[in-house]
Order: sequence, then structure tokens, then C-alpha cells
Amino acid sequence: MKPKVIVYKRVPQQVLEYIQEYCDVVYYERLTDDNRASFLIELQDANGLMGNELAVNEMLLDQAPHLKVVSNIAVGYDNLDIAQLSKRGILATNTPEILNDTTADTIFGLLLATARRFPELDQYVKTGQWKGSVEQERFGVDVHHKVIGIIGMGGIGATIAKRAHLGFDMKVLYHNRTHNEAAERLYDATYCGLEELLQQSDFVVLMTPLTPQTAKLMGEKEFKLMKKSAFFINGSRGKTVDEEALVKALQEEEIAGAGLDVFVQEPIQNHHPLLSMKNVVTLPHVGSATHETRLNMSMLAAENLVAALQGKCPSSLINREVYTKA
Ligand code: GLV
Repeated sequence: MKPKVIVYKRVPQQVLEYIQEYCDVVYYERLTDDNRASFLIELQDANGLMGNELAVNEMLLDQAPHLKVVSNIAVGYDNLDIAQLSKRGILATNTPEILNDTTADTIFGLLLATARRFPELDQYVKTGQWKGSVEQERFGVDVHHKVIGIIGMGGIGATIAKRAHLGFDMKVLYHNRTHNEAAERLYDATYCGLEELLQQSDFVVLMTPLTPQTAKLMGEKEFKLMKKSAFFINGSRGKTVDEEALVKALQEEEIAGAGLDVFVQEPIQNHHPLLSMKNVVTLPHVGSATHETRLNMSMLAAENLVAALQGKCPSSLINREVYTKA
């Protein structure tokens, strides 16, 4: 008998077909209030779960006694209670590395769009305000040869550093739990304390995973440490920032602007103060959202799922402790 899995996110047909070769699949393109009850019933005898964003916590796991693997279609896994999964011997996997370039492109694009005011200028052209050479009030600021401070120098952070150093002649500062020697060697990245990074950077780019240690890492004190001319770019998770403090820092002109791909609440509410600020550029959490990369991520997640159910070690296993405990 094939193992039973639930795929609760829309995935390309070829990914679904690959999983169906090995598993009986219950497929929801997305979880909604309407299908939640049916999902919970299916969960009772499911062996695998694949998707992203769903909070896989103690309460959910109590309803999934046969689960062997949770495969996240994302690099971030703050939606998974890893301690609970490990305690129950359930493997957890994610999709690192294959999204580094695409996400670094998005975040660097966001940084450029914010510094050079692309969305505002796009509206200026499209609404017929472009009557002659552009007034100084609409100029942006240079990105090249400036200082970029990257908080969280993992795979994506280092790929941003590569663009900054090799493409834009920027000085790269970084703050991380551990030293990233490859980034230091290849991109001349300099490790520094958070305070120093905030004080010296023209662009502060937050790429750290969301953990209890990084929640609200950027708050009132941190924004105050930034230069008034500096921009804040967030490509990590909304909750790594105290959003009220960010609004205040922007309102009080403690920083020059912000480029945000992530928010505390997603989708962000219509009347959120960030949405009416001209110096804030927003994206709907699309770091890795290209056709190619999302296909690769779904396929990797599917391979992780199938490998785990075949008793093999998935290539991107998060909780190795499951094996050492057994
Ligand atoms: C996206 O945010 C991811 O974690 O892959």
C-alpha cells in the first residue's frame, strides 16, 4: 500500500505526478475555511504533509498520529514546531540553496527600487506628470560604492553580498551568529556587531530567519542607530521587525525609506500606515517567486517527502536529531 500524503499548496502538475507515483495524494490547492474540516479528517491517517505557511504545532500534530514527514516548500520554517516534530520522530525538511539567486535578485531589486524610487517614477510617467526633465525632488540616491550591512549571512545573504560587491562595488558589512568565511574571502565581507553595522550602513538588509532570538530584532533602538540617510530592506520575515517602531522611524525621518517584501500580517491590511508612505516600497512576499524557482522548490520538497517515506534521509533535513535519538 502506498503511503498517504496531503499536499496543501498548489504545485506544478509534474510535481504532483511525481508524488503520485509513490504516494496516495490528497490535494488542496490552498487551505481555506471551507476545506479546513476535510483537511483535518484527512490528516488523521496521513503519513506526509507538504506545503508551506501552515502552523504545524502541538495541536495540529495531536490530530496526525501517523505522520512521518513534514515537507516545507520554503527555506524558512518558522511555521514548524521543530522540537515537537523531533519529539514525535517526525522528519522536517525545507528547500534551501535553490532559491538563493532568485531571492537575492528580488531583494537587490527591491533595494534599487527603493533607493532610486522606481514605483513612484513609474506612476509619474503613467499618470502623465512627465512634462520635461525630471525635477531634483524626484531624484534617488546612489547604490553603487555605498555600504551595505547584511544581517543574516546565510545562503541568501551571501548571494546578496556577491551582487553588492562584484556588481555594485559596495562595501559589505555583515552580522551573523557565526562567521561566514567564504563571504569574507569572496566578497570582502566584514563581520561586525549589530550596533556597528546599523551605524555604518547606507542600506541595512535583514535576511535572518525568524526565531525566538530574532523576533523584533529591529526595534526603536535599532532604527535610531541607523543613519538618517539610510534605507532599511526586509527580506526575512515580518516578525523580525517591530513594525510600529518602523512606522515611527519613517514618520520621524530617522531613516530615509524602506523596501519590504514581508510583513507582520500577510496579506497586509489595506489601511496600514506603511502603505501610504511614498518612501516605502512594498512587495507581496515574492522573494523566490519565479516560475523556475518555485518549480524547483516544489520538486525538491516532493523529493524530500518521498525520500523520507521510503526510509531514506531527505537531502534537506532540518531535524537530524530524529536519527540520533532513535
Ligand atoms: C520564503 O519566504 C521562504 O522561506 O522560502
